[in-house]
This record gives sequence, structure tokens and C-alpha cells, in this order.
Amino acid sequence: MSAGRDYLLGVSEDELERLKFQHEVWRPVTGAFLDRVGLRRGATCLDVGAGPGFVSADLCDRVGPSGEVTALEPSPFFLDHLQARAKADGRSNLKGLLGKVEETALPRAAFDLVFVRWVIAFVADVEGFLEKLVPTLRPGGVLAIQDYYYEGLSLFPRGGAFDGAADAVRAYYRSVGGDPYVTGRLPSLFKRLGRELVEYAPHSLAGGPGSGVMEWGHRFFSRHFGSMVEKKILAPELGDAMLADWVSHRGNRDAIFFSPLVVDVAGRAPAI
Ligand SMILES: C[S@@+](CC[C@H](N)C(=O)[O-])C[C@H]1O[C@@H](n2cnc3c(N)ncnc32)[C@H](O)[C@@H]1O
Repeated sequence: MSAGRDYLLGVSEDELERLKFQHEVWRPVTGAFLDRVGLRRGATCLDVGAGPGFVSADLCDRVGPSGEVTALEPSPFFLDHLQARAKADGRSNLKGLLGKVEETALPRAAFDLVFVRWVIAFVADVEGFLEKLVPTLRPGGVLAIQDYYYEGLSLFPRGGAFDGAADAVRAYYRSVGGDPYVTGRLPSLFKRLGRELVEYAPHSLAGGPGSGVMEWGHRFFSRHFGSMVEKKILAPELGDAMLADWVSHRGNRDAIFFSPLVVDVAGRAPAI
């Protein structure tokens, strides 16, 4: 990334694969949100912090060849993947734009939808970030955000070291200036920015060993408890104990993993 703090979860082939899997697990939730915000064919979209472009491709399919999607992403590695895949799939209406929101000149009144999934929880100045995005919307355009309200994470049966995992993840996000409860702040921020809140819907997924959601959890915790130890967010013994608790639940057919809450938040710009 060009400047500022690096993306907390890292830019690597592993992270790309994790994002791809994450997209498949959460795709029905994102798809239902996009259905409700009413994205029409021919619309123009900005996918903010697009990563390798899994949502960008879905947005392209929704707007069709008469619409256009701009994918803004600061990692050249992710953006290269996005552009190579767009070329291979013949998606000529997907454009890549390299940069961070805070440092990129964005066109004014250009988009019907600005979509931001799993990005703002990493951002230190959320208000400044949204202030930069709002002028890019056309009158009547929608700012749609999906991100955490980091509650609800749970592993049943309870009682093991993993019960402390939510606190550790929240500290991990805060270590880069992020806010794991960021979606709680959005209704008042939207009001301040003159957006009418048209959607506010929390979602949790749950499942046992072998389910998509538990595998999604595994791809995060099996890597990031170690990073939390490196950052001194967790003592090494506690990181090991959390991982061991997680692994033992994965081998227990009766275990259930509950995801943290992901909230759909959408605000509409007043039509002129
Ligand atoms: C968890 S990934 C989510 C990717 C994609 N939105 C998705 O839902 O699959 C977060 C992405 O946000 C990007 N990002 C982080 N900070 C950003 C910023 N300030 N402006 C634009 N993108 C940012 C990262 O490079 C990373 O690709």
C-alpha cells in the first residue's frame, strides 16, 4: 500500500484465497443486500477497497454491459488479480483504480452506488473517509456499507480459552486505529453527512464442523492468533490455548460456531 498503515490482514496469496472463500460464504448476505438497495442494469458503481475483486465481478454482472464498475484498491497485487480476471472473463465494464480513498482523486457525482465491504473497520478516520466518498454519488445515489459490529462471536460448548477471542480480535483491529464496532457509529455519521438511512440490518451465520462458516473462521483464527501474539495483543500461552480450543471444537461434531455480526448499512443521497 502506498502510504499510511498497511492492511492489517496482509497482502498475500493466502489472504487472496481467504478473501475468495469469505466471498463465497457471505455471498448470499451481500447479494440480498444488493437486491434490497435496488441496483439496476446500466448503473455505475464504485467498489471501495475492492481487494481481488470478488464483489466487483458480482456488481458487474448486476449492472450488465451498459453499466460500469470502478474498483478502487491500494494493493497492486490484489488489483492485478482483479484486472487479469476481468480480462479473462471478458468484463470490459470493470475498471481498476489504484489507491487509498484518502489519497485518490475521485470523480464527482459519478456513481449510483458506492459499495464498501469489510474496509471501514480498518480505517482510522471514518468520517473523513465517508466525506471523501459522499461527493462521488449522483443525486439519489446509495452509499452501501457492510462491516462488523464485533459482537456475537461464539463457540459452543463455551468455557474454553476461545471465549476471549472476540476481545482479542477487537484489540487487533484497534492496533491499526480501526474500530470493530464501526457500524454502530454509521447512523449518526450518515445523519451528519445528510444521508437518509434506508437500511440497517445485522446478520450472523452459524454452523458446525464442515460448514462454510466454521471453515471461514478457521482460515482467520488459524493464522491471526499467531499475528496477535506477534503484536503482543495475546500472551503466547493464551494464543496457543485459544487455537487449541478452536481446533478441539473443529473435531467435535456437536460444536457450533457463531460469526460476529455483519451489518448492512445503506444511506441515500437526497435527489435534487
Ligand atoms: C478485508 S479486504 C475486503 C475486500 C473486498 N471489499 C471484499 O469484500 O472482498 C479489505 C480491503 O480494503 C483495502 N483497503 C484498506 N484500507 C483502504 C483504504 N483506506 N482505501 C481503500 N481501500 C482500502 C485493503 O487493501 C483490502 O484489499
